[in-house]
Amino acid sequence: MSPLLLLLLGLLSLLLCLLRRRNRRHGEPPLIRGVIPYIGKALQFGKDAHRFLEDHRKKYGDIFTVHIAGRYMTFIMDPLMYPSIIKQGRQLDFHEFSNKVAPFTFGYPPVINGKFPGLKEQIKRSFNLLQGDGLKSLTESMMGNLILLFRQDHLREGGSWKSSSMFEFCFTIMFEATFLTLYGGPPAGCRHSGMGPLREDFLKFDSMFPLLIAQIPIWLLGRTKAIRKKLINYFLLHRMSRWSNTSQFIKLRAELFEQYDTLSDVDKAAHHFAILWASVGNTAPATFWATYYLVSHPEALEAVHQEIHSVLRLSDMEFSSDRDITMSRDQLEKLLYLESAINESLRLSSASTNIRVAQEDFSLRLDTERSVSVRKGDIIALYPQSMHLDPEIYEEPQTFRFDRYVQDGKEKTDFYKGGQKLKYYLMPFGSGSTMCPGRFFALNEIKQFLCLLLLYFDLELEEGQSRATLDPSRAGLGVLLPATDVRFRYRLRKV
Ligand code: HEM
Repeated sequence: MSPLLLLLLGLLSLLLCLLRRRNRRHGEPPLIRGVIPYIGKALQFGKDAHRFLEDHRKKYGDIFTVHIAGRYMTFIMDPLMYPSIIKQGRQLDFHEFSNKVAPFTFGYPPVINGKFPGLKEQIKRSFNLLQGDGLKSLTESMMGNLILLFRQDHLREGGSWKSSSMFEFCFTIMFEATFLTLYGGPPAGCRHSGMGPLREDFLKFDSMFPLLIAQIPIWLLGRTKAIRKKLINYFLLHRMSRWSNTSQFIKLRAELFEQYDTLSDVDKAAHHFAILWASVGNTAPATFWATYYLVSHPEALEAVHQEIHSVLRLSDMEFSSDRDITMSRDQLEKLLYLESAINESLRLSSASTNIRVAQEDFSLRLDTERSVSVRKGDIIALYPQSMHLDPEIYEEPQTFRFDRYVQDGKEKTDFYKGGQKLKYYLMPFGSGSTMCPGRFFALNEIKQFLCLLLLYFDLELEEGQSRATLDPSRAGLGVLLPATDVRFRYRLRKV
């Protein structure tokens, strides 16, 4: 195409954008458009979503609409209004968004009823295996796999200090242990070969994740398409059929996909790959933050360490470093301070957006007094990070307090805003019917990892480093990564 034609087309689309420019109607929230057509405020939002929203809340109040990358997003900033959004099922839909974005990102065809009758419902049903009895066996299997990796890779060393990068350490263990737990491994308890390159490809894909979610065509993203293909190919049937100890969850999904001739082998593998991302993409950084905050707060580390020993003693188990330790689901539930420390680190590091799409023009009721008009196709968004860092709800919100969620020996659940008790005060896993189905497994596996780490090792941060900070590039999409990795030292405890 000639440069002149390109220029003309560019000017024409600019003119069309300006003509179709949206104006605020009566009853609608304040509208923030930005000067660049289509892009709107996407760049400012992407740079630091939390600050962007806080600045606009101060200027426009608790409800405002922002033009971001071609969509109009109405942010509801007051957490007292969250319940009315979360319970709105009929006119606000989550799946319209995820059904489009997830297939685009992970490379499988949209799960639409015409082509794959009943598949969507059955996929949803498979999530039940991440809870109840399914969770019990997943937790047992995860414990065995964590012990295997700790024994083979870290517990053989003598009692001298070893130095490592903390994110890499957590990520390497959680990636492989979660993989073995969900998908199984080579027979006779062996480990997969090629985990290192798989992990590296996963991280490369993960760094492009925000752009894929923003629906930037994959061919514009360098080698991402080839990397995704390699990741997907890892799950082709001829490989998976050789693995043993595969979880019921993955087995059921594999059987389900076999019922659909309309799904190619690569499509099925892409579905399995999507679960790998869902199960590690947030859990690995969450494990890092919990470890980092505990290691950088020695009093918290000691309190949690003592709690783990007391829970073991309750079951007449005495820890000894030459014996394998197991923590059952029931024991994990008793670790109140450990759970609080993990929740506190999720409060400080998670930044997901809860998204619903308006199915029609309607008046959205926010509380007994207020409602706003929304238009069909607009996105209604909750951004819980703003609530997690609200000083009215959480005193000194930037400070890590490992026992923030414990009161009188029980889980603390009462947090207030404007004198009113909040129904939702911690939302790293989303909300309502679309809430993360893997949340119980995620909490258990992070607890198991930390139990082993704290029981077996003395841990210290290396001196001369600045505090770990959040890399905002995944803001809106889950748990944030650290801007740079942190060096730490570990040594086998003398027990
Ligand atoms: C700390 C770890 C984790 C965090 C913070 C997290 C967070 C989330 C969030 C925010 C969502 C979207 C929910 C919504 O928009 O309302 C989600 C969805 C999902 N998560 Fe997790 N997750 C974690 C771990 C896991 C694990 C371990 C698994 C699986 C074993 C998992 C499986 C899924 C699946 C399958 C979905 C999509 C659900 C659907 O389509 O309805 N997640 N997660």
